[in-house]
Amino acid sequence: MHVLVDGLQGGQVDPLDRGLNYGDGLFETIAVLDGRPRFLDWHLERLAGGAGRLGFPALDAALLRREIAAITFGARCIVKLIVTRGSGPRGYRPPRPASTRRIVAAWDWPAPPASAAAGARVGWCRMRLGRNPALAGVKHLNRLEQVLARAEWDDGVMDEGLMCDEGGSVISATQANLFAKLAGRWVTPRLDQCGVAGVMRRAFCAWQAEQGSPVEERVLARADIESASALLLTNALAGAWPVRELEGRPVPVDGDCGEFSAWLARV
Ligand SMILES: Cc1ncc(COP(=O)(O)O)c(C=O)c1O
Repeated sequence: MHVLVDGLQGGQVDPLDRGLNYGDGLFETIAVLDGRPRFLDWHLERLAGGAGRLGFPALDAALLRREIAAITFGARCIVKLIVTRGSGPRGYRPPRPASTRRIVAAWDWPAPPASAAAGARVGWCRMRLGRNPALAGVKHLNRLEQVLARAEWDDGVMDEGLMCDEGGSVISATQANLFAKLAGRWVTPRLDQCGVAGVMRRAFCAWQAEQGSPVEERVLARADIESASALLLTNALAGAWPVRELEGRPVPVDGDCGEFSAWLARV
């Protein structure tokens, strides 16, 4: 792993950092392909939106771009960008004036095993997502719900887990957004109560709109997912990952998945 902390190679994170102490921060996981960070504008846009929602000072996008370029290596790697509210005295009260801290890291990104292309085997997680419109959609550092959900299986059989909110509405997988084909149309859960508004979700919606069949965002119940003719997971690294099994029951892989992947390879 290569890392820059506030632009410094080998820089250390202060133990008083508010991201570490309170999860007071944001992150982006960015796919670098052919040496180019994919959908970088959209990642930075979401980050800036999150910074606004959390009341951070405006971020310097040009500086972030330079640091991402500096840390990127080879044709293919993963860049993770973390922005926290910096350090402060003990206590939740955000320091004023506020500052931010940047942690920009890059990892090797081995090609996925050939078996991954066949699709994901998914099941339902017991862990529920709390509703909080003030944080809905934001990719913030508080990810304990996903951590505990991901701790629910380690069987080598399930690849991903689907999560509902506290009211029973289906929201997403632990680290991906979810699309379901219902009556021939792709639908995806609304993310106005919780969930992360994924960059790849945005890309899939943009592609569908381009095809003349915009994705519908709505409240989805478990029964909707269980009756879908196809299911699709999206995230910045995987692109579109079809679901091939739900709770051990086969789910057909929709041709749109391959078509979207081909589109993605061209953008
Ligand atoms: C909880 C959650 N939802 C959705 C996503 C997908 O977001 P993106 O498409 O920006 O990778 C992620 C990605 O890590 C995630 O952790």
